[in-house]
Amino acid sequence: MTSAPPLLLRPDATGIDQAAALLARGALVAFPTETVYGLGADARNGEAVAAIYAAKGRPSFNPLIVHLPSTKAAQSYVQWSDTADRLAQAFWPGPLTLVLPLRKDHGLSGLVTAGLPTVALRVPAQPSAQRLLRAFAGPVAAPSANPSGRISPTTAQHVVAGLGETVAAVLDDGPCAVGLESTIIGLDGVPALLRAGGLPLEALEAALGAPLPHATTPVAITAPGQLASHYAPKAALRTNVTEAGPDELLLGFGPMAADLNLSARGDLHEAAANLFEMLHRLDAKGQPIAVAPIPDHGLGRAINDRLARAAAPRA
Ligand code: TXA
Ligand code: MG
Repeated sequence: MTSAPPLLLRPDATGIDQAAALLARGALVAFPTETVYGLGADARNGEAVAAIYAAKGRPSFNPLIVHLPSTKAAQSYVQWSDTADRLAQAFWPGPLTLVLPLRKDHGLSGLVTAGLPTVALRVPAQPSAQRLLRAFAGPVAAPSANPSGRISPTTAQHVVAGLGETVAAVLDDGPCAVGLESTIIGLDGVPALLRAGGLPLEALEAALGAPLPHATTPVAITAPGQLASHYAPKAALRTNVTEAGPDELLLGFGPMAADLNLSARGDLHEAAANLFEMLHRLDAKGQPIAVAPIPDHGLGRAINDRLARAAAPRA
């Protein structure tokens, strides 16, 4: 832990080298991916990984996603399979996370996997993330860089506002292009969808040539992103609203009058990229939020998943 505000690093050679050196020293470095900003630590360093949980205030040790620069690097930690290969060839680098059985000699901290026999792996496409992972040349554990249960970060400013001095540095490369966390597929047994996300289910099913069942109880853990209340703004939030109440701020979709509009032209990719940024902006005003109906296909499925959790009663 540090006690100064985080260093803001530029995504140039100097910034990338500094970020990699900090990771190597066991510090926490937030970095951009195409989905959301991640809170990174060396996945082999137990103390560094423990600092992730402390910084986020994560209620328990839930397993983290390990980020790697390439499929080849990912393969060395797990028992690879034909299905993994097909999905990796189609979608890595990209917004897809695969959960696979660990190899015995994996070398990752037990805190990363929460003692499970599986690990979640991701190869992000965002160029600065790629350069950082290549410069560090090791596995980087990274959950979304937000306080546990709150709105996910899609800019460096969100990270600084949410986590402040608990992070040594933030690699700032502007807003995230996709704006929703990765889609998570369990490949420990029959392939199953563990979390809807930035890669649409339709694309995965097309690549697999088969329907992908939604896992009911994925594993013997409570995945934070699967908790009923998550991604929550401070204010109350209602979904599927066609008419906002007098004190509510309306978050629109498609051509309509609204305080902010996820996509006036009704484009789900644009809406996904805007979702967390607009929730952060509306939340700063301290009024209840009403969200217009979002079509439940493609990226709309993941948007509706995040909105339902943001709207759920808080613990
Ligand atoms: O897009 C993303 O996935 C972002 C960026 C930073 O890569 N990361 C992210 O991490 O969303 P996080 O920690 O917020 O969510 C990871 C999810 C959690 O719900 C966790 O429980 C689940 O992945 N997970 C991790 N390892 C798992 C495992 N072995 N089996 C099942 N679920 C697992
Ligand atoms: Mg998260």
